[in-house]
Amino acid sequence: MFRKILVAVDGSEPSNRALKYAAEFSVKWGAELKILVVIPKVILPAFPNEGIGTVPATLYSEMDRYQDRARAAYKKVLEDAIRAVKEAHPEIRVDGLLKEGRPSSTIVETAEKEGVDLIVMGSRGLGGIMGWVLGSTSRRVVDSCTKPILVVK
Ligand SMILES: Nc1ncnc2c1ncn2[C@@H]1O[C@H](COP(=O)(O)OP(=O)(O)OP(=O)(O)O)[C@@H](O)[C@H]1O
Ligand SMILES: [Mg+2]
Repeated sequence: MFRKILVAVDGSEPSNRALKYAAEFSVKWGAELKILVVIPKVILPAFPNEGIGTVPATLYSEMDRYQDRARAAYKKVLEDAIRAVKEAHPEIRVDGLLKEGRPSSTIVETAEKEGVDLIVMGSRGLGGIMGWVLGSTSRRVVDSCTKPILVVK
């Protein structure tokens, strides 16, 4: 039923639980597992007191440095995820995908492009306001994607 499974991982506990489910499902169905980690793009904050369109030059280099750190951190998240799956289930065909952009739309686009049959993700991730059942990424993916989705709490 499921031949290709995409699991979205951001290093959070719910996403690690999602990874475990995705790996078990891959074993059960003999499915190929794609692990996707999206490096979020640093967004330039607005500085109301600096005037429109004026951004201190130092800020750009700060942003580059921050983006580089984010790249390295998310790359490690992907490597750890691949290693964990391979250790637990050496028989699974597992492939890692590291992309950069907005996590929700990147997950949906990757699912389409890779032609997966199932998306597995956590209900919440690393960020934000607790108390809500779903984070903004899982909410957007559930809203906009037509594929079956397993949201793991
Ligand atoms: N950068 C990412 N790369 C891959 N998957 C992600 C990424 N961010 C979130 N996800 C997936 O989405 C799930 C839900 O995370 P989400 O971002 O919706 O919650 P949150 O971080 O708690 O809230 P918010 O991002 O709105 O502050 C995660 O468990 C993970 O499966
Ligand atoms: Mg998030």
